[in-house]
Amino acid sequence: MTRPLPDDLLKVPHRRDVSFARLTTLGVGGLCRWLFEPTTEPEAQAFVRTCAREGLPWRVLGGGSNLVVLGDLELPVLRLAFPKEIQRQGNQVRTPASHGHIALAEAAAAMGLSGLEFASGIPGSLGGAIRMNAGAYGREWVDVLSHFRFLTPEGDLVEKAPEPGEFSYRWSFLTGGRVVLSATADLVEGDAVKIRAQVAEYREKRGTSQPLSKRNAGCIFKNPPGQSAGRLIDQADLKGLRIGDAEVSPEHANFLINHGKATAAEFAELMEQVRAKVLEVSGVALEPEVEIWQESLLS
Ligand code: EPU
Repeated sequence: MTRPLPDDLLKVPHRRDVSFARLTTLGVGGLCRWLFEPTTEPEAQAFVRTCAREGLPWRVLGGGSNLVVLGDLELPVLRLAFPKEIQRQGNQVRTPASHGHIALAEAAAAMGLSGLEFASGIPGSLGGAIRMNAGAYGREWVDVLSHFRFLTPEGDLVEKAPEPGEFSYRWSFLTGGRVVLSATADLVEGDAVKIRAQVAEYREKRGTSQPLSKRNAGCIFKNPPGQSAGRLIDQADLKGLRIGDAEVSPEHANFLINHGKATAAEFAELMEQVRAKVLEVSGVALEPEVEIWQESLLS
């Protein structure tokens, strides 16, 4: 991008030249030239409104747990930095989208509220989790979502309850310039000891089946209907396939891990090789769960 950013945008808190390696859980990627970090809803709204008015392409980033960025990005990136406060009203908790997802699940458990146990091992921000209707162990966000606030691509603020067709497996309509601002979960009062035990059991299961001690981006591909991407990749004998420091995890085939010095390009290449091989062996075209950003494809 060669033209200067509009003054209205520069009033929103921002940082320059932040490495995506620090902004993503895989720890790879080029520079984020313009990282906008609004601390209030009006600041976030000003960002989206200004970009819409100026016809500026931009992207929103959450906890970076599902993202690989190839090269540097000149286009503005929005990452909410709202105060970390969870508001409880009865059995509902309302949480800003920038709150850590695991931290929210832990806070709900500490309050003796049941319903978010499934979320206790899913990294990233709450906004990212809502946006992709994150789930585990047969539960997903839409099961507990009472209502949510978001900005439209024009920067208008909407608060609503989920409706049929808005959320499905690892998908929601909250893409394409929509920004989740906060979400309210409908939980039930439970026994804090039992809730903690369930959280511990999920952790234990995850810890034994997933390579959590290495940098990763969770599952790389979506499960095709009725099938498991992990099993398909495993059956194609791809565990341990390695390009540089990027490897298909020997523990769980649907995880790619960074041994330390991997690059975004190595991960993109590894994903492509896995996709091609699984297609050849089983005839299934895997769809990525992670996003790949590249300036030339986003602007
Ligand atoms: N499997 C293999 N080989 C492997 C990995 C798995 O044969 O290398 C088999 C397992 O034995 C099992 C089946 O595949 O029979 C399913 O595996 P698993 O129970 O690990 O669940 P998954 O379908 O691979 C899903 C979610 C995970 C979530 C777990 C637990 C997706 C794409 N993945 O994994 O979510 O943690 O269930 O609920 O929906 C994520 O979304 O990033 C993620 C990690």
